[in-house]
Amino acid sequence: MNNQLKRVALLTSGGDAPGMNAAIRAVVLAAHHSHIEVLGFLHGYNGLLDNDPTLLDLSCVNDIIRLGGTILKSARCPQFQTKTGLKQAANTLVKQHCDALIVIGGDGSFTGMLALKQYWPGQMIGIPGTIDNDIDGSDATIGFSTAVNTAINAIDKIRDTANAFERIFIVELMGRHSGHITFNVGVACAAEQVLSFENFSADNQEQKLEQLAQEINSLQQTRHNSYIMVIAENVWPGGATALARELKERFAIDSTACVLGHIQRGGSPDAKDRVIATKMGVAAVQALINNESDVMIAEQNSRICSVPLEQAIQHQKKVNPNLVAAHENILALTAQNQC
Ligand code: F6P
Repeated sequence: MNNQLKRVALLTSGGDAPGMNAAIRAVVLAAHHSHIEVLGFLHGYNGLLDNDPTLLDLSCVNDIIRLGGTILKSARCPQFQTKTGLKQAANTLVKQHCDALIVIGGDGSFTGMLALKQYWPGQMIGIPGTIDNDIDGSDATIGFSTAVNTAINAIDKIRDTANAFERIFIVELMGRHSGHITFNVGVACAAEQVLSFENFSADNQEQKLEQLAQEINSLQQTRHNSYIMVIAENVWPGGATALARELKERFAIDSTACVLGHIQRGGSPDAKDRVIATKMGVAAVQALINNESDVMIAEQNSRICSVPLEQAIQHQKKVNPNLVAAHENILALTAQNQC
């Protein structure tokens, strides 16, 4: 048990995610309960360089559980990747008498924490907050569930107009370099096709284009209905817009590209994200009290645990192969039965 713990620095970094505010609230409430002060640094790691923190008291976190975004703001911080930036950040933490640092963010943010370790000896805890859900060691990350639901709501609406016009839509989803959002949304929206890193590589672009054109043509011959393809951002060179253009130019297939973009990052967090963020925020403070450091708070099989930060950033978490297989099986069945 760490009785020396008096002051914790807290920041959110990288792409914001719905539920980050719920995690901030939980950290502040849990810390307050144990008579620990929380200093909030604004704009991700830039806040450590600027040295202008705010003391987060209970009034700061009142009624924020339902808000999207992050009250601490977020940013990416190239300066933090330099020796000078890291030393400056370490100086701030020393000057502000911080005993520990909690960062809510993704793998880039955790890599930053490990780099800071060379210059600052305080305790460090990561909380996985990213809509991408690509952090190894945790079944879920804060924001993923809301982002998936936001995309599902949007695509359900696209489906209405697509049905009305018997039209083809190619919807591009976020996820940086992983297909967790794309596969989950694709399956949940009964998309006619899912194109993601797990089932496509740009080396087979030509072959895939022909295959897609054939599939669209044969489906349209046998039934008059809408066709929705969801594609992960960064998977097809030029994205959904380029794919729609290529289908038109090469195969005279009309389709409409729709990039959902940052709408997936915003909005009030859903129940799942509020609950997981609250559990993780409380667990982060408890981990500090238990003298843990250099770990990420994770959820595995519905249980909160901690995973070494090194392990969390080593590999990108893979999309569950069962989900990919389920999608393939459903597509095959749909093609057979035209349902
Ligand atoms: O990591 C979250 C994320 O939204 C990714 O899905 C996306 O690739 C990226 O951030 C976009 O970042 P930015 O808003 O900085 O362009």
